[in-house]
Amino acid sequence: RKKVILDVDTGVDDALAIMLAVTSGKFDILGITTVSGNVSLDQATLNTCKILELLGVSGQIPVYRGADKPLVREAVFEHRVHGSDGIGGALGDMAVTKQPEAGAAADFIIRELLARPGEVTLIMTAPLTNLAAALQKCPELVAHAAEVIVMGGVVQGYGNITPTAEYNMYVDPEAAKQVLAAGFPRLTLVGLDVTRRALLGAEDIQKLHNPVIREYVETSTAGYRARYYERNGVQACALHDPLAVGVALNCGLVTTRDYYVDVETRSELCDGQTVCDFQNRLNRPPNVTVCLEVDAPAFLECFINSLNQEPKK
Ligand code: BDR
Ligand code: CA
Repeated sequence: RKKVILDVDTGVDDALAIMLAVTSGKFDILGITTVSGNVSLDQATLNTCKILELLGVSGQIPVYRGADKPLVREAVFEHRVHGSDGIGGALGDMAVTKQPEAGAAADFIIRELLARPGEVTLIMTAPLTNLAAALQKCPELVAHAAEVIVMGGVVQGYGNITPTAEYNMYVDPEAAKQVLAAGFPRLTLVGLDVTRRALLGAEDIQKLHNPVIREYVETSTAGYRARYYERNGVQACALHDPLAVGVALNCGLVTTRDYYVDVETRSELCDGQTVCDFQNRLNRPPNVTVCLEVDAPAFLECFINSLNQEPKK
């Protein structure tokens, strides 16, 4: 089984990404690292522990706390989308016993990558602060990662937090810039270009057999779906973060191409924009595998089928 570390800012779709990763049974999840993003670090960590308890795997997957704010900027929470608690008010009365481990996320990432050269895939579904911190402490870790899969950015369309920027890139563009420039052997960008097309509708949720999972997904995504309805006239929740897990599951769902990509950090209007050099104007070697197309129905099927399995412990 593929060894993975998930890095999350557990909001609505991060939680669904964790559920997909766990229920797929295809990963050896070495640990989950948390970071400030959609919600505070404390809230993201609590939400992560709750999801693992809901899935009945809290004893098997360690959680490590990471950065409580971006590298140099202030936090920008996304309560409008994810609700005040980050998971749409679901699991509000859950008594949580799981606690995060001692030790920082960046140190955990360094330790695991160095211990297993070429074996570990990092799935990043949050601002890239933890990985940038790990790189600052241990630059040689780049050579040790099998692959880094990042949900973030948008190369051909518009942003979702500013006109040009995707949220994870916008919140910590300095971290994103460092990660993209680090020289990882394979870094895949799963941006809004594809994640916007992976939509979970109300009728899809009814295909979930397990009542506990179905009720959780229904409740946690209700606010998100209502907001989406106001803008688009259809009830749906974009599966941004789960699609990054889907790419790691390697179901052949995305079409990719390698390009040079950089992140803007010094612009009034465009901070956090992922600039993709489609025509090689800068004459630099490609550093990113960019997802350009997705077979959304196939991914949706993979997502639903996976959540319909019992979690593999
Ligand atoms: C990304 O931003 C966050 O709000 C989501 O959890 C996802 O990681 C989508 O732009
Ligand atoms: Ca996220």
